[in-house]
Amino acid sequence: MPRFQAPRGTRDLLPPERSVFLRLEEAARDLATRYGYQPIETPLFEQTAVYERGVGEVTDVVEKELFRVQAGRGDEERERWALRPEPTAGIVRAYVQHGMRTWAQPVKLTLTGPMFRYDRPQAGRYRQFWQFDVEVIGDPGPAVDAEIIELATAYFSAVGLSDVQVLVNSIGDGACRPAYIATLRDYFRAHEAELPDLERTRLATNPLRLLDSKDERMAPLIASAPTISQHLCEACREHFEGLLAHLEALSIEPRLAPTLVRGLDYYTRTAFEFYRPGAEGQQQALGGGGRYDGLVELLGGQPTPGIGFGIGLDRVALALAEQSAALSAEHWRPAAVVVGADAQDTVVRLQVATELRGAGLACWPDLTTRRLGKQLEGAGRAGAHFAVICGDELEEGHVQLRDLEAGTQRQVAVTDLARELLRAQAQHRHGGDG
Ligand code: HAM
Repeated sequence: MPRFQAPRGTRDLLPPERSVFLRLEEAARDLATRYGYQPIETPLFEQTAVYERGVGEVTDVVEKELFRVQAGRGDEERERWALRPEPTAGIVRAYVQHGMRTWAQPVKLTLTGPMFRYDRPQAGRYRQFWQFDVEVIGDPGPAVDAEIIELATAYFSAVGLSDVQVLVNSIGDGACRPAYIATLRDYFRAHEAELPDLERTRLATNPLRLLDSKDERMAPLIASAPTISQHLCEACREHFEGLLAHLEALSIEPRLAPTLVRGLDYYTRTAFEFYRPGAEGQQQALGGGGRYDGLVELLGGQPTPGIGFGIGLDRVALALAEQSAALSAEHWRPAAVVVGADAQDTVVRLQVATELRGAGLACWPDLTTRRLGKQLEGAGRAGAHFAVICGDELEEGHVQLRDLEAGTQRQVAVTDLARELLRAQAQHRHGGDG
């Protein structure tokens, strides 16, 4: 076993997995831009208080999973920091800090990047993972709630995941939730003896969290717990009905999930999660999000509504691999590899390849001094469509162009080479016989 390894719960994204991730990020960027979201970047760490206040002190994410950062010794470093477990609290902190309430509302932001949770590692659950996140701050909904759910479903289709299910719920607001929480507390108190230790402690501080407990012993109790839907106030009920009507107009058929409360404290009203059929356990959501109408105020701003979602790119990549969708199977391939009959003459190969790259082609030279046969083998293994063979004809301005897929070869003037390859590449992309 090598002496140094990636930390437990993290992994190296090797080729071709990194390319799959890049494509997932690209799809996120394309879609978010089309829907009018602007990219934002926030630090990978924040004051711990941002998460304690924003996400909530009595949540798994803050109680058990924060990666606390040990900084230097100066006064400033007495501040407590933590790696970001999720982007929403940091983005809202930035919204308040930079006075974005004076910008045109709503402010629509997107961020894709790594998050950190000190979780028990298992398939699809890592200590460093990637999220595609979008946030709309300044719109009370419910139309925008539907738009954002539609955006997530469009993303899943764009990357090649069919049949992703949408689960929705409304978890009420400050007007109706307290009464519900009291009912919930009574219910779990009546079952106190059956509660695992952590859940018994949480019953006093944050009974709602019992509904998203990952402890399997809680499943039957959760299934028969009273649901918020029976306790929504008129305004929340209307909001939820508005959301469902807008979703219907977009032909999105969500599953109503009355026990879905999400694991973070900032949510109000709309809450939703995305699953592949058959994978609806607590652990395997492809993404989730919801409304957080109290968060801006909680982090020091004026009362401002907000909603967003985070999609777990690691889980999307895993699902694609299982589904062996084109996106994950497709590897990056060069249009051409430049090889040479004179094994020692690396200069000419480098020159020709540099010119082709200058013309916009994906290609590289074989810069080894192995014999031509081996160079051609290498070009084939790289998946190149063509090999450009530099030989004696180069003195008259010609090279041999070998189509490695068709097994044919012809002479081409160096001055025509880039144009020929670009044409072949375009034909190939459009399904021509190339
Ligand atoms: P979340 O449900 O905690 O929500 O995370 C969103 C997604 O990130 C999950 O559905 C999952 O796909 C992925 N994820 C979470 N933890 C892990 C992990 N340990 N390993 C791999 N993937 C993971 C949020 O983070 C909210 N900020 C979403 C949001 C945005 N709500 C409003 N705006």
